[in-house]
Amino acid sequence: MDIYLSRLFYASTATEKCTPQEVDKIVFEGRQHNAALDVTGTLCFENNYFLGCLEGSRKNINIIFNKIASDDRHFEVHLLELKEVSHRYFEQYLTMFNSKDIVQHLIDQNRIHEFNPYLLSSSHLNEVFRDVTETLEIATKPPPLTKPKKGLLNLFNTSR
Ligand SMILES: Cc1cc2nc3c(=O)[nH]c(=O)nc-3n(C[C@H](O)[C@H](O)[C@H](O)COP(=O)(O)O)c2cc1C
Repeated sequence: MDIYLSRLFYASTATEKCTPQEVDKIVFEGRQHNAALDVTGTLCFENNYFLGCLEGSRKNINIIFNKIASDDRHFEVHLLELKEVSHRYFEQYLTMFNSKDIVQHLIDQNRIHEFNPYLLSSSHLNEVFRDVTETLEIATKPPPLTKPKKGLLNLFNTSR
């Protein structure tokens, strides 16, 4: 039994087969799996990069991350950080939001110039997510757990 509440960040690059429909599928299925293991977190997709955050018991985070790492819909899966934490940033399972909001927020705050998760340092990552979850209040938005109509979960390509 692993009781250590932990948080993991990873970065990866989408392959060509990772279409917007595929991303919808990943989020829909991921929510069910993560809920079953009480793993909260988020997935950000921008500039063809993924930035993921998983929070929960260290054991369950590893179960999910091992699956993610061997998924052929992305490559160069880099573990950016895994550490024990006292609380979660996210209350929901695989929270989705408009990544453009996050990226714009970070650019406005002069925290980043362009979205490239491989370039984020460990302290930067934590600063960024604390800031984003507090400021944009995305952590409190419950995602729908029922199957959406086609395309409804595809928040990534929302033009602004
Ligand atoms: C960028 C990315 C993020 C993913 N995130 C999750 C996730 O948070 N939870 C999850 O169960 N699967 C996630 N997946 C899908 C897994 O890689 C895998 O396909 C899924 O867990 C089903 O595995 P299974 O068929 O072995 O049960 C993600 C895939 C990608 C490409």
